[in-house]
Amino acid sequence: MTTPAPAAQNAPSLVVEGVSKSFGERRAVRDVSFEVAPGELLAIIGPNGAGKTTLLTMLGGIRVPDTGTVKQQGPNADKRIGWVPQQTAIYTKLTVAQNLRLFARLEKVEDPDAVVQRMLEQTGLEERADDELGSLSGGNRQRVNIAVGLLADPPVLLLDEPSGALDPNAAALASPSEDLEQAFANFLRARGH
Ligand SMILES: Nc1ncnc2c1ncn2[C@@H]1O[C@H](COP(=O)(O)OP(=O)(O)O)[C@@H](O)[C@H]1O
Ligand SMILES: [Mg+2]
Repeated sequence: MTTPAPAAQNAPSLVVEGVSKSFGERRAVRDVSFEVAPGELLAIIGPNGAGKTTLLTMLGGIRVPDTGTVKQQGPNADKRIGWVPQQTAIYTKLTVAQNLRLFARLEKVEDPDAVVQRMLEQTGLEERADDELGSLSGGNRQRVNIAVGLLADPPVLLLDEPSGALDPNAAALASPSEDLEQAFANFLRARGH
């Protein structure tokens, strides 16, 4: 009898090798390499203009690197990477559920109604399902934004400035970030991590 090698279970989901990108003379990203294991949370930290967004766009396949490679690996390697943009794409005049349904259709998920229900449960926003997004707090709005990124159950989720969408007062308070941490914990638990 054989058991799978632990190394195989921890094989990286994402392998980034020597990725660079320039805009004209400006080198936005220079020779970045790293690996991300399943269940791992990786933060990319740097000042404004450091190249974080440019790097994320290359990881997400939105931009092609000048040099280097981004490889997805593992059982879900063919599934698209999820993307939570800094500028939220959600609509303030639609309800939470309407936003989720709209993006579920755009993502062409198999059973939009079931996915919307699952995301409402995972965000803990079932009671706010029929409220306009504009009436939600910054933290709850960001939960919906993250839920949109997770609708299609991507193997990897990229978040650009996940606390940046909160207004300065809200960001200064401890509760919204705890709120977001809790939301992440729920998402990860629901995905078996
Ligand atoms: N589309 C673009 N065209 C030209 N320069 C860009 C473009 N996008 C980003 N840059 C430049 O690349 C550098 C990195 O930007 P960015 O990745 O947005 O940084 P960060 O997200 O860390 O603030 C900056 O100097 C920025 O001005
Ligand atoms: Mg940025």
